[in-house]
Amino acid sequence: MLRADHPASAGFDLTAYLARATDAVNRALDRFLPRATAKPATLHKAMRYSLFAGGKRLRPALCLAAAEACGGGWPAALPLACAVECIHTYSLIHDDLPAMDNDDFRRGKPTNHKVFGEGVAILAGDALLTQAFEIAAQSEAAPRYPHRDLVMEVAKAAGSLQLVGGQVADLEAEGQSISAAQLRYIHERKTSALLCCSVRLGGMSANCPPRELEALTDFGYHVGLAFQVIDDILDVTQTSEQLGKTAGKDTAASKATYPAIVGLEKSRRIATQLTDKAFAVLKPFRGRAEALQALADYLLKRDR
Ligand code: IPE
Ligand code: IPE
Ligand code: MG
Ligand code: MG
Ligand code: MG
Repeated sequence: MLRADHPASAGFDLTAYLARATDAVNRALDRFLPRATAKPATLHKAMRYSLFAGGKRLRPALCLAAAEACGGGWPAALPLACAVECIHTYSLIHDDLPAMDNDDFRRGKPTNHKVFGEGVAILAGDALLTQAFEIAAQSEAAPRYPHRDLVMEVAKAAGSLQLVGGQVADLEAEGQSISAAQLRYIHERKTSALLCCSVRLGGMSANCPPRELEALTDFGYHVGLAFQVIDDILDVTQTSEQLGKTAGKDTAASKATYPAIVGLEKSRRIATQLTDKAFAVLKPFRGRAEALQALADYLLKRDR
């Protein structure tokens, strides 16, 4: 059965929740990052340009919501939420480079390399990636999860077996005809891994027991896959203005995407099924997972 609607989160004000989370994350990021005037100023301006360009902050929100689901609070999760957003933003700066997806617009603005040049854009990405570890190292370790575990979590999700590996597979699949299983392999790595990491870190900041961490892993995996399926769909169905990035680029670049391989209708069904699987694993969290549920629902229905 396809549901795509979760009754338990129906009365939840996600708009207000996301606004609060975005505000908290933006303030914390501003504190963690070197000032725009710190030398070399071009680099710090470039890092801040993309970081504060108006991203949806969904990964940090997932991290904070996962902490809540495990009975924790925002303060302990906030540095980890910021670390994940730094990794995400670096990955977008590099993803947009001419050598990769060659995109001119991101988050409603010219891409980093369009404004600062390719050299500085590459280095701003490098610096944001490194910044993520500096921030993660400043988080409070929970009794069950020493810093080693938190840093490993970030490193594994961002590294050559996950995000970077997925980006390589994505590049290598351009113009090729690949199977649905190969496409899933790419999406698991380039996108799902970091979303999964976001909720796991939230749980770890709340000192969650192993079975809750397992449930969050399952949730993050499915929501993460659904997220990239929807991203692929939006590239076909939305305008560039709506997305804040150039629409239709996947088809133009012969990217391997769900709509290209299984068609739009089946892609929508797959995203719904993945989200239903994510909802199912939240049951043991009961009322505490309200925000997580509402986020999963939003990720499926989003139009940007
Ligand atoms: C875009 O992510 C890149 C993908 C992994 C699909 P988002 O849609 O979360 O981008 P921002 O952060 O809101 O710009
Ligand atoms: C980006 O996937 C994934 C990462 C940056 C890790 P896409 O290339 O589909 O993202 P958009 O569409 O440019 O945002
Ligand atoms: Mg890409
Ligand atoms: Mg891209
Ligand atoms: Mg895309």
